[in-house]
Amino acid sequence: MRFAVLGAAGQLGRDLCPRLPGEVIPLGRDRADLVDPALLRSTLTNLRPDVFVNCAAYNFVDQAESEPEAAFAVNAWGVRTLATICRDLNCVLAHFSTDYVFGLDAGRRTPYRETDVPGPVSVYGVSKLAGEYFVRAICPRHFVLRTCGLYGVWGSGGKGGNFVETMLRVAAQGKPVRVVNDQFCTPSYTVDVATAAAGLLSTERYGLYHLTNSGSCSWHEFAAAIFEQAGIQADLTPIPSTGYPTPARRPAYSVLSTTAYQSLGLPSLRPWREALAAYLLERRSPIV
Ligand SMILES: NC(=O)c1ccc[n+]([C@@H]2O[C@H](COP(=O)([O-])OP(=O)(O)OC[C@H]3O[C@@H](n4cnc5c(N)ncnc54)[C@H](OP(=O)(O)O)[C@@H]3O)[C@@H](O)[C@H]2O)c1
Repeated sequence: MRFAVLGAAGQLGRDLCPRLPGEVIPLGRDRADLVDPALLRSTLTNLRPDVFVNCAAYNFVDQAESEPEAAFAVNAWGVRTLATICRDLNCVLAHFSTDYVFGLDAGRRTPYRETDVPGPVSVYGVSKLAGEYFVRAICPRHFVLRTCGLYGVWGSGGKGGNFVETMLRVAAQGKPVRVVNDQFCTPSYTVDVATAAAGLLSTERYGLYHLTNSGSCSWHEFAAAIFEQAGIQADLTPIPSTGYPTPARRPAYSVLSTTAYQSLGLPSLRPWREALAAYLLERRSPIV
């Protein structure tokens, strides 16, 4: 099987490429820019992959509030173009999405299933949801894979690193660390999400899936676990979201149920605390 992976140099893409079962063609925006339909079409037509994996996205969650056109150009219109080309070439399209398609239901406290109606609360979330819908509406053979709170050794380009590294850096500087304790999700290790995605993409069980580590926590709880596992005494204080205003609203609760993935009999993703321990080990000696 021949895979073409866009966003191959991103945080998730870097961990996914070596885990895909077959020939892998890593792509960056020089060969496949989501805002350049002609370039996208000519590259895909030349490469003729069996599966096109889109790890690329406009990921500047806060910036998207002031430049919605840029977010939509990549996450919605770019993905629509991609879905059309994949359909025309009879290529499977695997597209990554986000827990930020949820959040409107402020009282929600049980994990969202794939069958739950989304309701984003940010421009980023709306743009990613539009992208999902284009994939599902246009390209019959698709995987839409929603994930959450990613961290991996390659860091996120859009976020300039990852949450774990930010926590360790701030604590190492001896600064107080204030982290919100009223936003709950499942921090997910890119190695685990990539491994699960690679297994799923080896099947023909197309559809919408949630892929995250298991369990859930607040960002404050996650920070506490980082310091505990790293053996660091940090000056950590829980704060409400109102104490850390951001341009984009975040969901208070965006835990994703992985029932659909699990029902396929594929290996479960480990609990988030175990994944964090594996990450802290890997960051000392990268495994890829
Ligand atoms: N990070 C998270 O916490 C998180 C949570 C939930 C879901 N997700 C989703 O997971 C996926 C992977 O995220 P990530 O953290 O790995 O992102 P990332 O590290 O920021 O990587 C994004 C990649 O997209 C590429 N890209 C941006 N605009 C492009 C364009 N116009 N054409 C082609 N490529 C373009 C970037 O290339 P350049 O380096 O050239 O800019 C980069 O390689 C995304 O779909 C994201 O929405 C992420």
